Amino acid sequence: MPSKAPRASVMHLATFAEFFASFALHPIFGNGMNTIDLNGKTAIVTGAARGIGKAIAERFAASGARVAIWDMDMPAAETTAATISGSIALQADVTEPQSITSALAATEARLGPPDILVNNAGISGPNMPLDEYPPEAWRQVIEIDLIGVFNCCRAVVPAMRRRNYGRIISIASIAGKEGNPNASAYSAAKAGVIGLTKSLGKELAETGIRVNCVTPAAARTDIFAQMTEAQIEYMLPKIPMARFVLVEEIAALVAWLSSEDCAFSTGGVFDISGGRATY
Ligand SMILES: NC(=O)c1ccc[n+]([C@@H]2O[C@H](COP(=O)([O-])OP(=O)(O)OC[C@H]3O[C@@H](n4cnc5c(N)ncnc54)[C@H](O)[C@@H]3O)[C@@H](O)[C@H]2O)c1
Repeated sequence: MPSKAPRASVMHLATFAEFFASFALHPIFGNGMNTIDLNGKTAIVTGAARGIGKAIAERFAASGARVAIWDMDMPAAETTAATISGSIALQADVTEPQSITSALAATEARLGPPDILVNNAGISGPNMPLDEYPPEAWRQVIEIDLIGVFNCCRAVVPAMRRRNYGRIISIASIAGKEGNPNASAYSAAKAGVIGLTKSLGKELAETGIRVNCVTPAAARTDIFAQMTEAQIEYMLPKIPMARFVLVEEIAALVAWLSSEDCAFSTGGVFDISGGRATY
């Protein structure tokens, strides 16, 4: 029969104060984060005014990168850039190739040629059955979440080819692997991002450019405001870790994928779903 003694002896190793202090530093990671070397790199993060993109921009800056925050919400992008040392905010709508070309030119002029592109800008779109889904809303999700990734890659890849170096990471979703009900546009767009990643990874495999995507489970960001309560309630019990992913946890994976250490992985789909997907 299990005894309570081992637990008591563990508590002898640390005072209660130390025990609680360790959680106060960070509830999930413990006392710190690994150092990722992005010194001297120029990174573009789309949709980085808030949420996951903002956490990625923060992690990049902490790793030594100069970060261009591309977002269609310029006031929010400027507010975010003001809090991240070495970052700049640029107006960019990922659905508009002309807007991307201008943002890329401004990035190159102010921060240098891009080493890293993170395709993060996205929307969830409405939650409703497919046969009720307004076609224009369906198209808008595909336009931003999938064609936006194509537009940004199409603009940035030539600049990376010229220097034979680059890291491209797209934020797909567990929905793209598993399919979420009442989210057909979002699931299809994210499955498309996974396919685009596999294709582009192979196209560029013999260059110095690596192309990967991540498939997070739900993270509590402003995007939740676009979803129904029923949708959010559907997602949580599906996650074996029984919690939503933290934006910092996604940023940590993206930071490694953006580094030179990520050398022999391309066209890859990196899971970060708390155990929901096992492939
Ligand atoms: N939060 C989640 O549960 C979750 C889970 C898996 C994947 N994702 C993906 O992660 C990415 C970021 O999500 P988030 O939760 O941080 O969302 P968010 O709503 O907090 O932030 C999205 C940002 O993208 C910007 N944006 C939207 N459309 C744009 C456009 N056309 N051009 C440029 N910028 C645009 C918005 O202004 C906003 O700043 C999205 O691609 C999303 O699909 C999110």
